[in-house]
Amino acid sequence: MKKELLEKLINNNAVVGIIGLGYVGVPLALAYANSEIKVIGFDIDEFKTQHINDGISYFKHISSEQLKKVTETKIFSATTDFSEIGNVDVIILCLPTPLNQYREPDLSYVVKTIEAILPYLRKGQVLSLESTTYPGTTEEELATRISRKGFQIGSDFFLVYSPEREDPGNPNFSTSTIPKVVGGITKDCLEIGVALYESIIEKVVPLSSTKAAELTKLLENIYRSVNIGLANEMKMIADRMEIDIWEVIDAAATKPFGFTPFYPGPGLGGHCIPIDPFYLTWKAKEYGLNTKFIELSGEINTSMPTWVIHKVNDALNEMGKSVKNSKVLVLGLSYKKNIDDVRESPSVELMELLRSKGAIVTYCDPYIKQFPKMREYHFELNSVLLTPELLRQMDCVIISTNHDDFDYEMILQHSQLIVDTRGVYRGFETDKVVSA
Ligand SMILES: NC(=O)c1ccc[n+]([C@@H]2O[C@H](COP(=O)([O-])OP(=O)(O)OC[C@H]3O[C@@H](n4cnc5c(N)ncnc54)[C@H](O)[C@@H]3O)[C@@H](O)[C@H]2O)c1
Repeated sequence: MKKELLEKLINNNAVVGIIGLGYVGVPLALAYANSEIKVIGFDIDEFKTQHINDGISYFKHISSEQLKKVTETKIFSATTDFSEIGNVDVIILCLPTPLNQYREPDLSYVVKTIEAILPYLRKGQVLSLESTTYPGTTEEELATRISRKGFQIGSDFFLVYSPEREDPGNPNFSTSTIPKVVGGITKDCLEIGVALYESIIEKVVPLSSTKAAELTKLLENIYRSVNIGLANEMKMIADRMEIDIWEVIDAAATKPFGFTPFYPGPGLGGHCIPIDPFYLTWKAKEYGLNTKFIELSGEINTSMPTWVIHKVNDALNEMGKSVKNSKVLVLGLSYKKNIDDVRESPSVELMELLRSKGAIVTYCDPYIKQFPKMREYHFELNSVLLTPELLRQMDCVIISTNHDDFDYEMILQHSQLIVDTRGVYRGFETDKVVSA
């Protein structure tokens, strides 16, 4: 079985099934389809499968032209019919792995999906989990369920874990140029996993186990979370000492070794960095271990929106105004620049804090025309048009996300007060620009 599957993978004859057509699943599907490998995308959301089949992108960073190129030829198609799983050779899971209300791992998307596809799995397939998760998930949640079918993992069914490193909107890297880590349940699983990804990715990094691959992804994200936490703490210290943190980071970054710059901001956002570290925190408890760095950086990073609001409060106070009844415009709703993803965005937290203090809040984001439905917060708002007149009417403008599309000169010229959380005006500060 291994030989047959390996041959299909090496000769690009395998049919790839990707479950979860989100930020991770769609670019991956495109990478396979662009290499002339047949891809079937699966999702429970009919809006998405329909849009894929119509060649219409629902992501800002993926054009409909890119999609049409491969959907018109039907090399990439999408369906909500999971019985099709029996017709693919490869199953890749790109499903959400959020936290539940107790900030514990919520693996329900992965578990429900594996239970749903179990009847359609057949011998000779490989399944790869790409969702970020704690070490042990592939063995504990997937291998055990697949074995229940009587499959021998490593001889008649193959199981690997390969974390996704997608960075939506990053112009310097694409799915195929980002090296991909893979771990297999057995050596043969690993061999299959390497072949699966080598067909589309320039550099595949094999690891000794699925657990090692799972922990690798968490280390990468915890490294970011801890270093952003450090940058945020340094920002607050520098602020009190009246030192420009941006100047300091730029200076430290001139050291050619031993220092990687991380930048402060209004807080953490996105599906990954605020969430993934807590997958390890939860699992570490099983071993009687605490994850002190994770918790500390989490504490600092989640306190940032409140710190920014203190700065807004002080700045308005200097002008003889209060937050209550002030008109505040939040620039940028997405969690980072030039993308349309609002998941866990600190901008939303800022808006909520301002609203709770009685401010009249509006937002402008060229990529998010309407305030989206969110689990915790809701604003009946549409993005406003950024004009000199509007800026002049605002008591305060907060730069929360530094989209390249904003006209920063116009903002500087016409705003009464700017609270800049992204260092956009570093070196150009005037009386009306406050760093936060
Ligand atoms: N977004 C990123 O930049 C990024 C980067 C690296 C890793 N990751 C990880 O990749 C995983 C997926 O993230 P994402 O950003 O693509 O999520 P997403 O929410 O954009 O996409 C998930 C998709 O899965 C679909 N889905 C949900 N339940 C389903 C089910 N039972 N069957 C089929 N489809 C179902 C949803 O409709 C959605 O289209 C997560 O574990 C995330 O942590 C994400």
